[in-house]
Formats: sequence, structure tokens, C-alpha cells
Amino acid sequence: MNEEYVLQLQHISKEYPGVQALKDVSLEVKKGEILALIGENGAGKSTLIKTCSGAVIPTSGKIIVNGKEFSSMSPQLAAENGIAIIYQEFNNVKGLSAAENLFLGNPIKNGILIDRKAMEKEAEKAFAQLNIKIDPKKLCGDLTVGYQQMVEIAKAIKQNARVLIMDEPSAPLTSAEVESMFKVCELLKSQGVSIIYISHRLDEIFRLSDRIVVLRDGEYIKTLITKDSHVDELIRLMVGRELTETYPARPDCIRHDETVLELQDVTGNGDTNISFKLHKGEVLGLGGLVGAGRTELAQMLFGAVEKTSGKIIFKGKEIHPRSPRQAIDAGIALVPEDRKRHGALLGVSVKNNINMAIYNRISKLSVINSKKELETANSYKTNLLIKTPSVNQLVRNLSGGNQQKVILGKWLAANSELIIFDEPTRGIDVGAKFEIYSLINNLVEQGKSILLISSEMEELMGMSDRIIVLAEGKMTGELKRESFDQNAIMRLASAV
Ligand SMILES: Nc1ncnc2c1ncn2[C@@H]1O[C@H](COP(=O)(O)OP(=O)(O)OP(=O)(O)O)[C@@H](O)[C@H]1O
Ligand SMILES: [Mg+2]
Repeated sequence: MNEEYVLQLQHISKEYPGVQALKDVSLEVKKGEILALIGENGAGKSTLIKTCSGAVIPTSGKIIVNGKEFSSMSPQLAAENGIAIIYQEFNNVKGLSAAENLFLGNPIKNGILIDRKAMEKEAEKAFAQLNIKIDPKKLCGDLTVGYQQMVEIAKAIKQNARVLIMDEPSAPLTSAEVESMFKVCELLKSQGVSIIYISHRLDEIFRLSDRIVVLRDGEYIKTLITKDSHVDELIRLMVGRELTETYPARPDCIRHDETVLELQDVTGNGDTNISFKLHKGEVLGLGGLVGAGRTELAQMLFGAVEKTSGKIIFKGKEIHPRSPRQAIDAGIALVPEDRKRHGALLGVSVKNNINMAIYNRISKLSVINSKKELETANSYKTNLLIKTPSVNQLVRNLSGGNQQKVILGKWLAANSELIIFDEPTRGIDVGAKFEIYSLINNLVEQGKSILLISSEMEELMGMSDRIIVLAEGKMTGELKRESFDQNAIMRLASAV
């Protein structure tokens, strides 16, 4: 037994019909270290860590926890051996309090009665241990996503987790919440807890991790010491080729004489008096902090929520989108931020999902043109690098990032005049990001117009022709490409 390692994975393979998700992967986790696990969408990260929690049974290989050998885990074995996973979809019960969630399945009892007071007291202690302030009485459903995640972490620690595995924990968080989550990670590390941290955001990896394991196509590629490694090397190892530019060059394709969308004092859904013009062939960025009202604006344009006043003029005519169907028929598409909830049908094939918005267009007398259907699906599979053996695969069986690409494909197939992208590259790996940017460029070159909502400042500045900044539902400024500046945007974003 090697004393240094709390968890060792040896020669782990996992096969699914038609997919070798993992091929002979080995790695070790040291006590009290933060080990980052990185790789492109579909590289096998989630599958690998699920073998540790018992959610996936490896086809072959060994899992060694504190010197004890297992050929596979079960959720119970994992818990007994101090392994906990924080999934993206939290397991908490929204209708129960933070304290009740913490003691879920294992309540403190006084005789035969559940001792709520004692649980609340213990919960308070557990939260204090992580330096976080959560009212134990508050319902989990009323907590922010960041706090819900903290409850999950507190629960894992209360159950004596010695290895905490986090699969893209920062994805749903605001930047302030990410900071608190980092603090909790550092604190746990100082207490000797080991963390496996999965993320597509390389800046986080550099900030937080001690070592980095790179996976590619289900294979182990390399382990690096974070402080001795460089971002270019990581990217090269992940994608297996040199990626020189981050943002593909785009010829100027703005048709300044043609306004596609005009908002005049649009108010509603938390936004007030929003006015701007979007030209044909233009990418207009919407900047601002989380909660600034950008998604709310997108919802109004897409007919998901009605405006209360003001005018929306689309292609020269005032429109009143009252449902997404109306918006789609008018030529407006929205690629939503929360793609899990508003996007893909998980139990349906990649092909059906991609064609979902255009079935009425590719059918005659209710008969689907199946050649066209297959062509469309395959062309997006290729263009968006959707990793799956076939477009007949169920979306459920795709990796998280690849599910997102399917939804992107669905909206691109709809061939709308105006496409609203809400955080289009969240959860998407570096290589595929470039493909998505290229696709956005193609769209504007074809004369489409884009509204781009992004919290990634670099992306917003790299892709937009112009940026409008929102703060608390109001427009606080507009910047032209030549005056893009991170500080200026931040100032406008926090201006009230
Ligand atoms: N139940 C399943 N059936 C078939 N294939 C699967 C199943 N689960 C995962 N896969 C495949 O295994 C591969 C690895 O997927 P995994 O979810 O581990 O990737 P990942 O590295 O976590 O990617 P992402 O960054 O997109 O989350 C993918 O090709 C995926 O399609
Ligand atoms: Mg994953």
C-alpha cells in the first residue's frame, strides 16, 4: 500500500455499445491535494469519476481507496470509504430546509421523534466549519444555486468525505459564488481533504489545483504539476493539436443601412427602458453581471415572457411575440442558458433533437423527408464536432458538453434571422469553442444577426462588434469595438 495516496485508479476501462468511454486510465490522488481533471467534451471525465462513486461500473480495472482494493464501487461503498461527489444537478430536496437536507436519510432523533432543533444546531456548526453563513431553517429551494452547492459540500464533509469530487462545480455559479466555493475548497484542502476538480475553465484550474490530469478520447494523456505548466501546453495536450488563435477572424459584414431589430423603451420582466438597434450581419454583445437582466431581455424577445411597454420592431414591423412558437415563426431563435432544462429531450435521438424546430419545414402532408432529416443532423454533428458514434444515439448518452452542442445545432438548423445566444460556450471545451465562434462568424457572413449574452469578458470582447452593458435591468452604456476595454465594461456593469 502506498501511504501517500488516498485514492488510486488503476487501468480503468469502460465500454458502452459503440463507445469506448475509458481506455486503461490510471491516476492517483494524494492526501490534501486538489487534482484537476481536464479534457475535451466526451473525453471521459464524468465517466471516470462516476466509477469512484459507483454510478458507473467499470468494464475492467481497480479502484484502491486507502489501500483497499475494489473492482467496482457502489454508492454505499463509496460513502463508507469517504468518497463523495458533488454533481451538477444537486440531489437536494427543494422543499426541505438546509438542515433537513444535511441530515437527509439520517436524521437526529429524540426517542422516536425527529429532533429538528438539534439538527438545526448541528447544521449551523457544519456550515460554520466551512466558514459559510446559511440559515439552517431556510428551504433549499429558496437558497441560491451557490448556497445549494454549499449544502451539498457540507453534507459530504459531515459524512466524513476524505475525497470530494466536483464535476464542473463553477458552471452554474456567479463569479462571487465561485470565489466562495474556492475558499471552501482551500479550507478543506488545509484540513487534509482531497479534491478532484473538473472544469473547462482553465483559469480556475491554474488558480486552484496542485496537479492536473489530462484525458483525451478516453485515454490518460499526462499528469502535470500546475505551477510548472503553461496554458498552451494544456490546450495542446487536451485537443491533441496546436490551437493558435482563440477567436477566428471575421470580415466586416455589418450592413449599417439595414436594421433587423430595434427596441424602443422596452420594459418588462425586470428590465426598464431598453432601447437599441441591431443591424444585419452584426454581433451585438450584451454584457453585465449575472442578474443584470440580460436573460430576461432575451426571454421577452423570444416570447417566453411578455413585455409591459415599449416597442419591438423586427425586420421593419412591430412584433408582439407572445410565445416561443410565434418568435420562432417570425425568425427569432434563442439558444438558452440553461440547456438542460430548456433544451434537449434527453430520451430522444441526436437526429430528432437537431430537427426538432424544423419538422414542419421538412415534412409534406405529415411525412418527414428522412433524407433531409439525416443530412441536417449529420452536417451539425460534423460542424459542431458532436462526439457520438451515430446521430441515432439518445442524447442522454452523450457527455454534458456534447448535449449542449446538440441544442446549439437545433437552433442553428432553424435558420432564423436573429439568433440570441445565452452563454453559448458554457461547459464547452476549448477546441469546440473555436468551432462555435467560427459558426457564429458564418452566420453573420450569411447575413444573420446575433445577440450574444456572455459572462466571459474575453469572449464578449472577442466576438462582438458592439457591446451594450446592462446593470439591474437598465442600460448603462454602449461600447464600439475600437473602445472595448475590460475595465470600462466592468464599471458599466456595476454602475447603477
Ligand atoms: N450511458 C452511456 N451510453 C453510451 N455512451 C456513453 C454513456 N455515458 C457516456 N457515454 C460516452 O462516453 C464518452 C465520455 O463521456 P463523459 O460524459 O465521461 O465525457 P466528459 O469528459 O465528462 O465530457 P463533458 O466535458 O462534455 O462533460 C462520451 O463519448 C459519451 O458519449
Ligand atoms: Mg462531463
